[in-house]
Amino acid sequence: MLNISEIRKDFPIFSAYPELAYLDNGATSQKPECVIKAVNDYYKNANANPFRGLYGLSDLATEKYEEARRKVAGFINAGSADEVIFTRNATESLNLVAFSLGEMCVNEGDEIIVSVAEHHSNMLPWRLMAERKGAIVRYLEPEESGEFSPAKLKGMLNDKTKIVSLTAMSNIYGFKNDIKALAAVVHEAGAYLIADGAQSVPHSVTDVRDTDVDFLAFSGHKMLGPMGIGVLYGKEEILRKMPPYMSGGEMIENVSLEEITYAGLPHKFEAGTVNAGGAIGLGAAIDYIDSIGMEAMIEREEMLTKLAMDQIAKIDHVHVIGDKNYKNHNGIITFKIDNVHPHDVASILADSNVAVRAGHHCAEPLHAFMGIPSTTRASFMFYNTEEEVLKFTEAMSQIRSLMGYR
Ligand SMILES: Cc1ncc(COP(=O)(O)O)c(C=O)c1O
Repeated sequence: MLNISEIRKDFPIFSAYPELAYLDNGATSQKPECVIKAVNDYYKNANANPFRGLYGLSDLATEKYEEARRKVAGFINAGSADEVIFTRNATESLNLVAFSLGEMCVNEGDEIIVSVAEHHSNMLPWRLMAERKGAIVRYLEPEESGEFSPAKLKGMLNDKTKIVSLTAMSNIYGFKNDIKALAAVVHEAGAYLIADGAQSVPHSVTDVRDTDVDFLAFSGHKMLGPMGIGVLYGKEEILRKMPPYMSGGEMIENVSLEEITYAGLPHKFEAGTVNAGGAIGLGAAIDYIDSIGMEAMIEREEMLTKLAMDQIAKIDHVHVIGDKNYKNHNGIITFKIDNVHPHDVASILADSNVAVRAGHHCAEPLHAFMGIPSTTRASFMFYNTEEEVLKFTEAMSQIRSLMGYR
């Protein structure tokens, strides 16, 4: 059992805002002191431009940056650290793979499949690439729970399908998809599977080799790390064949006026000065997660989700999006309240010191598909408390009457 009151002391923001129930972890997580310190220490004691100097401090910066890469590789069980590319965030990772893989294997008339439920970051890069290439984007519809059916996906695949890109865990439904089963179906059809892990990686034991995904994108800031650092995992043999996404310093071996030879992996995809402080902060976040234990974090998030859903079930006029079973929400509860605008819901909750998110959560096509313009979302992390959940559900039970309904 985790000692949450002790754990919360690791997060300076909780003592700065003791009254606030921060339930917007799907947008970004809070940061433990060890992460803040690791970033600080880097700039105080190890800062130089990695890879560029022939002096000790630059070597130290390089070593720390590459150590962070090895930690990420271990965390997702990649076969090699060369398969881990540092980016700014999941969005940049998805743009990178959409551009580069698209350049490599998509031609006019080819098909790309994404789901209706994708975050804009895993839909628009594919649409822009398809537009450039004259390819067609097709949309997989989720089940009511948010699940993607491998059988339904199989029915959409054909010899024109080159790429399938799906979220491993929806930021609206909270449903964790069976990426291994989806990858098997996609591979059978000879296509590539990209998983958007922005929500799944912070709340799951991730194993890219077991699931056999070709690419996995995620952000550091949703998993206790700093903003401005993200990851694209890709299988080495595919990354080697892909052309660069951005060009400039550090991604080349040699340049003459006639010719360019690109650097090897992963540097071919990391043009310009890297975010060493961010990567080191992410490495510290991984150490922290390992010290708590992902399984224990998941168990606690399930307990908080169950508590919230049990309480919400007692409130009339509240409708939770997705599965009825709390186990398929993984800390994400997106809901609507009859005749109350989600922005009013979020403002009333804010007046009660509960931070949630309202709007379409960067999933506008999904909201159109569900026939709901917008929703409110509470999202939990292991460090949230039962008291915070009850503060949230108690405030929710008052909303309709505060809006003048009986
Ligand atoms: C499912 C999903 N994909 C992608 C993203 C984009 O993440 P970022 O803004 O960190 O690039 C998010 C962010 O909320 C998300 O929830």
